[in-house]
Amino acid sequence: MTLTLHDNSGLLGEEKLDDLCRKNLEYLDFGNALDWLLPEDSEMIEDCEWLGTIVRQNADVLVVIGVGGSNRAARAVYECLGRKSRVQIEWVGLNYSAKEMNALLERLKYKEVYVNVIAKNFKTLEPGLWFRTLRNWLREEYGEEYYSHIICTGTPGSDLQKLSEDNDYYFLEFPADVCGRYSTFTPVALFPLAVAGFNIREMIDGAKVMRMVLQKPGNNPALMLASARNYLYENGYKLEMLSFFDPSLEHFSKWWVQMFAESEGKCGLGLFPVVGSFTEDLHSIGQYIQQGEPILYEIFLNVLNPEDRQIDLTDIPDGFEYLDGKSFNDVNKAAFKATLATHSERFPCFRIDVVSLDEYVFGELFYFFMFTCCLSAKILGVNPFDQPGVEGYKEKTIASLKANI
Ligand code: PA5
Repeated sequence: MTLTLHDNSGLLGEEKLDDLCRKNLEYLDFGNALDWLLPEDSEMIEDCEWLGTIVRQNADVLVVIGVGGSNRAARAVYECLGRKSRVQIEWVGLNYSAKEMNALLERLKYKEVYVNVIAKNFKTLEPGLWFRTLRNWLREEYGEEYYSHIICTGTPGSDLQKLSEDNDYYFLEFPADVCGRYSTFTPVALFPLAVAGFNIREMIDGAKVMRMVLQKPGNNPALMLASARNYLYENGYKLEMLSFFDPSLEHFSKWWVQMFAESEGKCGLGLFPVVGSFTEDLHSIGQYIQQGEPILYEIFLNVLNPEDRQIDLTDIPDGFEYLDGKSFNDVNKAAFKATLATHSERFPCFRIDVVSLDEYVFGELFYFFMFTCCLSAKILGVNPFDQPGVEGYKEKTIASLKANI
């Protein structure tokens, strides 16, 4: 993975960026002390692989119940790379929609189903509600043996662990010192990915190599991005956009949005993270980006060697003869180059190149953005690990429901 700055706007430039990195060098120590971002726990990895294999051999569908940090990393990988997975994963517990629940139960008919409920302390209402309904459904389907279809991922000592022990469900540990959105390299994401047949060790290897890169003070991409985003924020750029030309990255962008919004959006501060799924969004927000109020800058996530397909030839004249002999990627690359050239005239753009999309690259990207987010929040002066606003929403909803009982 490489990060480069493209700036013809005159606002940032290489020299300024170097200055900013020097000024913020002291914050690297904070990032480098965050060992728990990548727990080196071989027993935990073996457990995820062992149980993942059992479920993969038996299940048609794994229903993952979890919200926010409890599902986004695994879903990002699955939605991008999982189309060949034999076990289909359903991602639920994201809302209180009866329509979605009824539709899911329809889809589960005649399938061999396992459920993985993921919740840090099992107080959040969305997973609680969905788990109750699905638990009853499993009991109706499998009778007394239903318990062997349930895997709970929760913190030691939590209500979820108690529920697991009382009912003989499998239990995987959600480390108590890891907050939800930073839980990528724990069973929270590793177990569902193991069920889907992904090589979770490759993902961890990608993260380990990235960790080594980010420990060094010189040419450090996390320090560069964290420094630049704070500087641009101070200079009136209130929105940061993650753009990509491969729509299969949309769920990765949701993970990215949560990472930065929940970690930095507090104390009346923080860049607002937005997403551009191109080229589709160039036909909507593309207009605003180029000629609307100058409030955003952009990070392009670019895949150098994506899946490709040759464009069909045709004997029906259609006005697109200039496409003959080209591939889908030739066209996509032309659109990317044109967009980067145009946007970087107006505001600073960063370009992250990855060779291809696979487990290793996702490991690199997850670690890179988690680390960058921690550094950036520290520079901004906020705590990257709490989310008082989100907890407030949870508490108020629960209080209003209890008051009506
Ligand atoms: O990052 C976080 O901590 C949050 O987004 C949580 O993951 C989310 O609110 C779900 O919480 P829980 O796992 O306790 O159900």
